[in-house]
Formats: sequence, C-alpha cells, structure tokens
Amino acid sequence: MKNPFNFAGELDANNLVDRKAELAKVERTIRDANKLFLIGPRRFGKTSILKAAQTRLNAKKAIVLRFDATAFPTLELLVSRIVSHAAGALHGDVKWVGEQLAGFFSRIRPDMKFSPADGEWSVGFGIAKEKREDPMFFVDALDGLENLAAQQPQHRPVGLILDEFQRVNELGGVDIEAQIRAAIQQHSRVGYVFAGSKTRMLQDMVSNHSRPFYRFGDVTYLGPIPRGAFTIFLKEKFAEAGYEAGDAVVTRILDLAQDVPYNVQAIASHCWYRLMDEDEAGGSGLTPEFVDETLNLVVRQQDPTYAGIWSQLTPIQQRTLMYMVAHDGEGITSSVALREIGHGASTISKARSSMVNSEILREDQVGRETRYRFEDPFLCHWIRMTAILQR
Ligand SMILES: Nc1ncnc2c1ncn2[C@@H]1O[C@H](COP(=O)(O)OP(=O)(O)OP(=O)(O)O)[C@@H](O)[C@H]1O
Ligand SMILES: [Mg+2]
Repeated sequence: MKNPFNFAGELDANNLVDRKAELAKVERTIRDANKLFLIGPRRFGKTSILKAAQTRLNAKKAIVLRFDATAFPTLELLVSRIVSHAAGALHGDVKWVGEQLAGFFSRIRPDMKFSPADGEWSVGFGIAKEKREDPMFFVDALDGLENLAAQQPQHRPVGLILDEFQRVNELGGVDIEAQIRAAIQQHSRVGYVFAGSKTRMLQDMVSNHSRPFYRFGDVTYLGPIPRGAFTIFLKEKFAEAGYEAGDAVVTRILDLAQDVPYNVQAIASHCWYRLMDEDEAGGSGLTPEFVDETLNLVVRQQDPTYAGIWSQLTPIQQRTLMYMVAHDGEGITSSVALREIGHGASTISKARSSMVNSEILREDQVGRETRYRFEDPFLCHWIRMTAILQR
C-alpha cells in the first residue's frame, strides 16, 4: 500500500487539503489577465497551489508558464526558459513556431533550436552578453509574452507564475521592480502571479508606498490550513490503511507540527511507516504517545543538521529560542521574557531579527501583535529534546 502522506514536494490539485479559495484566485488572476502576489511562510503550500492552478488552467488549454526563480543563477537563463516554454506551448511545425517566437520576442533576438530527441526547445540570444543581465532584457521578454498572448484566441489565457519572486530582484538589482511594473501595467493579455516565502521582503515590496509594486495588483497572504480540514484528511487517510486516528492523535500531530502543512504531512507519513512495520510485530496502534515517539525518532535522525544550526547561533539567540520553546513561543517580547533571557530589549530584538532573516524564526501578525514562530517546528522539538536537557 502506498503511503498517502506526501511531504516531498509539490502536491497535485486532488491531494490539496483546503486552499480552494487561493487556488480559485490564482486561476482567476490568470484567466482575467490580472496581477497577484501570493505571500506565505515557508512550507505552507504556496508552490502546491501554483502547480495545481497551472495544471488546471493548462488542461483548459491556457498557456501557463511557471518557474521557481531561485533555480536560475542568471536573468538570461530565466528568460531563456520563459521563451523555450512559450515555444513548447505553441502548436505547429518547428519552422512556424520558431518564426512566431522570433516575431513576438524580436527585441531580445531569440535564436531557437528544437531537439527532436527530447522534444524541447533551447534558446540563445543574438545580443551582447552584458545586455542579457540588464533588467530591460527581462522586461523585453515579458513584452514578448504579451505579444504572444495577443495572438491567441480570446478564450486562451496566458499566464506567468514566478515562484520565489524576490529572487528576480536579486538577479536584476533594485531597478528591476520599477521596470517590471512599468511594462506589465501596460499588459492586458498576460496574467501574472508572483509568489514567495521571504514574507518580510515581499510584504515590504507590496505594502511600502515608496516601492513600485505598492498597490499593484492583489495580495493574498497564505495562512495555515484550517484544523477542521486537516483533521478530516488525516482521519480519512489513516482509516484507508485500517488505522483509527482519534481526535487526540490528530490534535497531537497538528500541535507538534505547529500547523505547518509540510510538518503535518511529515509526522503523519513517518507514523504511517512505523505502523506498517509494527503491524508485523504487533504494535499498540496509533496513540498520542506513538506520535510523540515517532517525532522523537525523526528529529533524532536529523540531529547533525539541527546541531549544526544550533552551533551557528550566538548565546543570546540560543537563550531566546530556549525561552520560546519553554513558553510555546508566547510572549518573547514581554518584560518577564527579557528578564529571563537576561538581556535588554534592543539586544533581544536584534537577535530575533537576525533569526528571522536567516529563516529560523518567522513573524506572524496576529491582530496588532507580532508573534514569533519557528520556521521549522522540528527545530523547536529538537531544542526541547536536546539543548534544554543539556543545560
Ligand atoms: N494544501 C495542502 N494540503 C496538504 N498538504 C500540503 C498542502 N500544502 C502543502 N502541503 C504539504 O507541505 C509540503 C510543502 O508544500 P509546498 O512545497 O507547496 O510549500 P511551499 O510553501 O511552496 O514551501 P517553500 O516555502 O519551501 O517553497 C507539501 O509537500 C505537502 O506535504
Ligand atoms: Mg515553494
């Protein structure tokens, strides 16, 4: 029997728990040629939503290109992929497609080659090397996509989804934001979805009124998956394998995973494997204690990784994290916390801030209050198991 819990990558649309509204929004954005920023913490399921939307739209004959910007070391490579995927989406003989693309993207002079062996296009550019890293080169490619879209029938939407969008800034420099905005605000046929997990960075990009993307398109912040939906999913999937997951078990999984979807699936998956193994040995079944033991095993296996992270932290960062672990992440800004951690407010605030930048912590806005959470709840568990015991 196949493990029903998948934490190793993008999910298909039919395996997504909840996220209907977000999925519909991404689809609508592309169908209506609008702009959307999808911002959310690490491992909350952004990429899975984007992939599901792309699959669904492409099944309806849309042309949706999706890229993870962090996969590209240069702007040129990203542009070359945009053009080659655009070519792959057009139906026609090789000569015709090549000519079409040369026309749409004429400003960047693509030199298109089709490899019949792997059925893919590769693209070079007939312009000077240094110009290929200029923001204008990227923007010209977006204009090319708009030209392509304008030649499609009205009912054939065209969309560009850029995941980990902040990377485009790193590749193109500060000017690129303004140039992208200037270009795509003229586009009426391509829908754009920009997503990413650098929450602070992206939030500043869209909410700081001095930045080009301020109020440019819709913004969706991805929150946790509602417990009710995750509960049904966990119970059903365990039941299909013949195990009953009671409320206490499900609550324990969600608590230990701190509702981060990746960690929920990871715990459930490891429980499932252990249950399968224990069946032969006659185990005691799926209980909250079984869930605890499973997580202990998982975290212990990753000890070198977590020990490595821990050893890179300053003593004050370590004490801040230990305080969070001991207090379920609550109130590290309170005066009691400051006293216990043993440093002044500004020192602790700096320590926290640098841990947000290095993706150890994330900031959650709850009403007016900022709460700090572990980006990886398993690190929280590792600290509970290891660092605190060694004090
Ligand atoms: N809607 C969902 N239902 C069930 N599990 C989910 C859902 N979304 C995400 N997950 C779980 O989280 C994992 C990570 O999802 P995904 O890669 O889409 O997140 P992400 O936000 O793009 O992560 P990253 O910040 O690392 O890019 C998935 O493999 C899956 O295990
Ligand atoms: Mg992702």
